[in-house]
Formats: sequence, C-alpha cells, structure tokens
Amino acid sequence: MRSTRVLVVRADEPEPEIIAIAAEAIREGKLVAFPTETVYGLGADAFNPEAVVEIFRAKGRPAHDPLIVHVASGAELQRVARHIPDVACQLAERFWPGPLTLVLPKAESVPSVVTAGGDTVAVRCPSHPVALALLRAAATPIAAPSANRFGHTSPTTAEHVLDDLQGRIDLILDGGPTWVGVESTVLDLTGEVPAILRPGGTTREALESVLGPVQIVERVKSTSAAPLPSPGMMERHYAPHTPLWLFVGPAALVREALLKQARELTSLGKRVGLLIAEDDGPAFAGELVVREEVGSAADLETVAKNLYPALRRLDALGLDVILARDFGVQGLGLAIRDRLIRAADRVIPIAHE
Ligand code: TXA
Ligand code: MG
Repeated sequence: MRSTRVLVVRADEPEPEIIAIAAEAIREGKLVAFPTETVYGLGADAFNPEAVVEIFRAKGRPAHDPLIVHVASGAELQRVARHIPDVACQLAERFWPGPLTLVLPKAESVPSVVTAGGDTVAVRCPSHPVALALLRAAATPIAAPSANRFGHTSPTTAEHVLDDLQGRIDLILDGGPTWVGVESTVLDLTGEVPAILRPGGTTREALESVLGPVQIVERVKSTSAAPLPSPGMMERHYAPHTPLWLFVGPAALVREALLKQARELTSLGKRVGLLIAEDDGPAFAGELVVREEVGSAADLETVAKNLYPALRRLDALGLDVILARDFGVQGLGLAIRDRLIRAADRVIPIAHE
C-alpha cells in the first residue's frame, strides 16, 4: 500500500513548483499519474526498469502488454528508437504534439520490460501542457499506459484515477478533465505499409491526408490462437462492469431497436441504462431508463470526450444492462466504435450499413 498524494495543477499554465515535485518523483522511480490530452496516464521513468515493473503491478496489467513511451518532442525520438524512417519524421512534424503513437524499432537503451520483450517501441509526444511540462522537467522519456486498472474504462479525470488506483501509486497531478477523451491512435511503421493498430484521437482521414491509404488491422478475438499484433486489441477491454449491448446500424433503425429492447427489458423488471446521442433523447422521454446523452451525433469530438465518463457514471448505478448506440466510422467515430465494441458483451447489427 502506498499513500497516494494528489496535487492540483493548472492545465493551461502548470505551476513550475508542482511540476518540479512530480518530476523529482519520476526521477526517484516513483509512479505518477498525469493528464494527457487523451486520457490520464500512469507514468514512470522509461529508462528505469524497476519503476516500470511497478506500473504493471499497480494496474494488474499482464507483462506481455507493452507500454507507450512519452517524449517531450520529436527530437527525443532518437533516445528511444533505433531507426527513424522519413515517414515518422513527417508524421511527428504534422501531428506532434498530439494523440498519435508511432511504433518503431526500439533502441537498445529502452528496457525490455517497457516493450514487453519486443523489439519495437510505441512512442508519442502528448500535447497537454501538464504532460509536456512534466516530460521536460523530468528530462527522461516517461512510459505510461492509461491510469486505470487493467481492462477497465480509461480515466479522463483525476477522480477516475483515484477510483481505480488509490493506494497503489505515489502521486496524481490533477489537471482537470482531459479533452480528447479517447486514447491516441497507434500506428505501426515497422511493416511494409503503415497500419493502424488502434484507432484513436488522430483520425484515419488525417493520417491518410499525409500517407495515402493506411491499413487498419482488424481486431482479433482473444480466443484466437494467433499472436496479437497489438496486445491491446483483446476483447472486453475499456470495459464497464455492467453488461453492455451495442446496437450498430442506421441511426433511425437503431433508435427503434433500442426503444424496443429497453421496453422489453424494463417490462421484465430489469434496470436499463442508455448511452445515446442528444438527438436520440426525445424518443426515450417518459421511458423507465437512465439516459446518458453524450452529445450530438454530428459532433463526434464531444461524443468522444463524454464517452468514458458516461460509461463510468452508468456503471456506478448497478444497472442490469447498458444499451448503447454506435456513431459510425467517419473521423472519431472509428475510435468510438472500437471502444464500444471492446466494452460490449454483445454487438447487435440492426441492418447493413
Ligand atoms: O492516449 C494514449 O495513448 C494513452 C495516454 C496515457 O498516452 N495511453 C494509452 O496506453 O492508452 P495503453 O497502455 O493503455 O495503451 C497502449 C496501446 C496498447 O494497445 C498496447 O498494446 C499498444 O499501445 N502498444 C504499446 N507498445 C506497442 C508496440 N511496441 N507494438 C504494438 N503495440 C503496442
Ligand atoms: Mg489502456
């Protein structure tokens, strides 16, 4: 058991004296949770294998799931990657700091515990001022997965981090809510063509505007015997404890199906939660369900930002089931669908899209 200290820090202009305390903790091999623009990360000095091992212990994360290394700038890539292809420089130039993680050949200096024994390393430069200030002050790359218990919904506030990790980590920098709301896009640059291993905050369309067509690696079932291209692609990840059923299809049909399903379940005495768009709300007025409206379906940035907090709120109510709608595959829709599918016990297709 550790005592977990929480320090409030300004998100836009972090106080140097608070950052200094956190940077010192990182240098001492401690575990520090901090906000990034996507979700909160649980950080340790990437060059200190004993400290990195503690990340796995605190999260209950299996050792075969590699961590993302955070750097203060594109120039720092050389400290963690053995070979930096031109395309990586181009992407870093265009998208960093920001929610894009690049998978590259790993430098010797990166301890193998960080990469789960693999010879590639995932690197990103976050755009959150608190994360950047911490990286600069610590003067070392910081290995940081999302700051949640393994398999659970990622944290977008310091309170979520406390809910999952209080007593297991040393320090939390509380910089308020994060603003992207879903994790970074993980792009593998070690193969013949760039491949998205995890859709996220940098859209496929944005990447394709620089790279041309990119491959999207399909999710694999955890029951599959094949090795996982990205271990984070396992089923039932980012998941609430309450069973979640995801309805995929044209919005109007999905709305009808949700209403029918909700009525059926409530008539059986089940307590039902809905994760829907603002535009869906009126269709459910007067129904005996708990509604979380995550934003207009036309405003996916808002939907992405509200997704995890809404899931956590619904999960806290001890409902029998959460019924969720899908938001398509354009822009951030792809990342939102990916997280909902992984959170889901059942995916219910309503019609061909
Ligand atoms: O936005 C984010 O990416 C957040 C913030 C904290 O930066 N971090 C995050 O880390 O989501 P984590 O550990 O929860 O997810 C990292 C993902 C996992 O799916 C992991 O399997 C994959 O990146 N990954 C890490 N290293 C890899 C590698 N060398 N090759 C392939 N996938 C890798
Ligand atoms: Mg995670």
